[in-house]
Amino acid sequence: MKKAIELAPDSWMPGGKPDPLIRHQHGHIGKSVSRIDGPLKVKGAARFAAEFSPPKMSYAAVAFSTIPKGRIASLDTAAAVAAEGVILVMTHRNAPRMKPMPLFMTNAKAAGGDNLPVMQDDLIHWNGQPIALVLAETQEQADHAKSLIHVYYEAESAVTSLAAAKARGTEPAMFMGEKLKVEIGDADAALAEAPHKVDVTYRTPRHNHNAIELHAATVAWDGDELKVHDASQAVAHTAWSLAQIFEIDEKQVHVTSPYVGGGFGAKCLWQHQVLGAAASRLAGRPVRIALTREGVYRAVGGRSLTEQHVAIGARKDGHFTSIIHTGVTVMSPQNALPEPFIVATRSGYAADTFKLDVEVAYMDMLANTFMRAPGEAVGTFALECAIDELAVELGMDPIELRLRNEPEKDPTQGTPFSSRHIVEAYRAGAERFGWSQRKAPGARREGEWLVGMGCATGTYPYYRLPGGAARMTLTRDGRAKLAVAAHEMGMGTSTVNTQIAAERLGLSLDQVSVEYGDSTLPGVILAGGSQQTAAIGAAVIAAQRLLVTELLKLAGNDSPLAGLSVDEVGGYNGGLAKLDEQDRHESYASILSRAGRNEVTVEAEAPQPMETQHWSMHSYSAIFSEVRVNAVTGETRVSRVLGSFDCGRILNHKTAASQFRGGIIMGLGLALMEETQFDERNGRIMNANLSDYHVPAHLDVPPIEIIWTDIADPHTPMGAHGVGEIGITGTGASVANAVFNATGKRIRDLPLTLDKLM
Ligand code: MOS
Repeated sequence: MKKAIELAPDSWMPGGKPDPLIRHQHGHIGKSVSRIDGPLKVKGAARFAAEFSPPKMSYAAVAFSTIPKGRIASLDTAAAVAAEGVILVMTHRNAPRMKPMPLFMTNAKAAGGDNLPVMQDDLIHWNGQPIALVLAETQEQADHAKSLIHVYYEAESAVTSLAAAKARGTEPAMFMGEKLKVEIGDADAALAEAPHKVDVTYRTPRHNHNAIELHAATVAWDGDELKVHDASQAVAHTAWSLAQIFEIDEKQVHVTSPYVGGGFGAKCLWQHQVLGAAASRLAGRPVRIALTREGVYRAVGGRSLTEQHVAIGARKDGHFTSIIHTGVTVMSPQNALPEPFIVATRSGYAADTFKLDVEVAYMDMLANTFMRAPGEAVGTFALECAIDELAVELGMDPIELRLRNEPEKDPTQGTPFSSRHIVEAYRAGAERFGWSQRKAPGARREGEWLVGMGCATGTYPYYRLPGGAARMTLTRDGRAKLAVAAHEMGMGTSTVNTQIAAERLGLSLDQVSVEYGDSTLPGVILAGGSQQTAAIGAAVIAAQRLLVTELLKLAGNDSPLAGLSVDEVGGYNGGLAKLDEQDRHESYASILSRAGRNEVTVEAEAPQPMETQHWSMHSYSAIFSEVRVNAVTGETRVSRVLGSFDCGRILNHKTAASQFRGGIIMGLGLALMEETQFDERNGRIMNANLSDYHVPAHLDVPPIEIIWTDIADPHTPMGAHGVGEIGITGTGASVANAVFNATGKRIRDLPLTLDKLM
């Protein structure tokens, strides 16, 4: 395998030549383009999953278990069944037989958050498991009837505390089919010998998902055909997975999801869609199942807790001799995601020796899952705080310390970086932020307020998962239609893909339409891992090349394009032109009408993502924060943030800046307030609502300045890197380091609440 990769093409494209159009600027890529779906959303005309109203609709309410483990001893539904408007009450006694959800990452199309039986037996696996579903004529009737259900449990002893979970033993984590452990040299010995070192433990809590749009689906059966309007970041995966569960053909399931009100890793397949489909089958009616905010906390997994040990040894000049990053995270026994907090450490810094490892302990709880930058968001909190601590120990500027350990190639994989300009990002960010004004810890006070500055590095891997495919249709009137099973969760997918298609075809934005959010369209594309744009882009490029090949054939020998190959032409001014000689041009309308064709349609698959094997590929950031900590109350206010990003070419300045800013805001929540209160006696989430679970409100968010390097990576589609998850990464450490600089207090447990600073 290793040899095959070495011999494989040196770029992301088969044949090894970088995309000849990567520098070809028609004018759409790199512009600030407002969201095409924006007006629809402002007008309320974008229909979300819970806004479809088929005839004979019924409404679901879900009852959740209140114990973490055991069995249902009795379940009295008589009063609920008799309540006004109730169509049926579904429990394990009458639910249709279903297979468990295919667990995410166990198959290319698996979308399930857990692989437990869905209401198939009387067993309870977590506190909050769905135990009954009421279907009624109105939502209010369903909610009321649900309150009439009486349950008695036979509880079994459960493992719901971290101490008990660890006492039961841990095992090495596997992430995306690979071991996370890395050992290079003798890191412990190098640490012992190091003249300067930091050796500390950081803790990060559980986090729950709080997308604005609640998880919801509108479900209807037509015979054996299942139609689902879902809130999804994985339509093709969800369709396939539902087919497995109900043992029907994949083609019999149709999932649509044109608008999603935030995903962040949570909008995959959870039990509610399955239960909605099961209830719909029982009732013979369409079902709308919309989880309440509490329901999302009970039934949709979030980020798990971590306990991270970071030790770094350094010479007097700052050179790292040892990086140790190990620790424990917790999983449920039935899921697929150990929070992989060492991933960013694998490629962040050069060091003589490494020891990286994640151990997993198991708890009886809701399956945890992906949440924006799983691993990196909390892993960089520990790593980047430790580097700040070491800089203090060395008496060195923390930026200088980082730059002295900038690796020339990936320090643990040995592969070259495809495009890494983090030094430029740091220099530009420090200059613009005014880093030189930073004072010694505790040295700047304005009245009651202690003021400090901090910074941290963020990195997030470039992924491009296999499965990208796209259909492109060009019509004689010079318009193009792109169709791809992608997702618009609010990040600007439909807009950016319009830009990409228009750029390559040489059309204006209003000549291109993009169809997406539908499992019947080409591609198996996950809006996750910050990889969707790369996955789509590679497919669009493949489709455009196929389209050009067809058009050159149709153009024939009478065209100014005669004799040119696909590599020599690009889309230009409503047609094709020779790349370096744009007078050799023929319009699409002319080519098609001469050929007597009304349209040409092609469908192409993206090439395999060999680039990720060849290169060490990442998005990068340097995050600067200024905080004000009240010396009397311990309250922390972030007064200024600057994010300096190196993420390849920035395709749409407006939507990318929003992604960066949104990620940073989520990072401020991670730093200062987000924390799932988990009752370790019984595994119950105690703050399952947005009044007790705090996320940043407008007044918590300071001005956030965003700058970037905008250096295209020749080894990725369009030269771009992902922008979805990098913003949250590094922000937690940046704020914590600023709090240290303000107060001289080092807090190693997130969130940085005032009690810890008093
Ligand atoms: Mo993201 S956590 O990969 O949706």
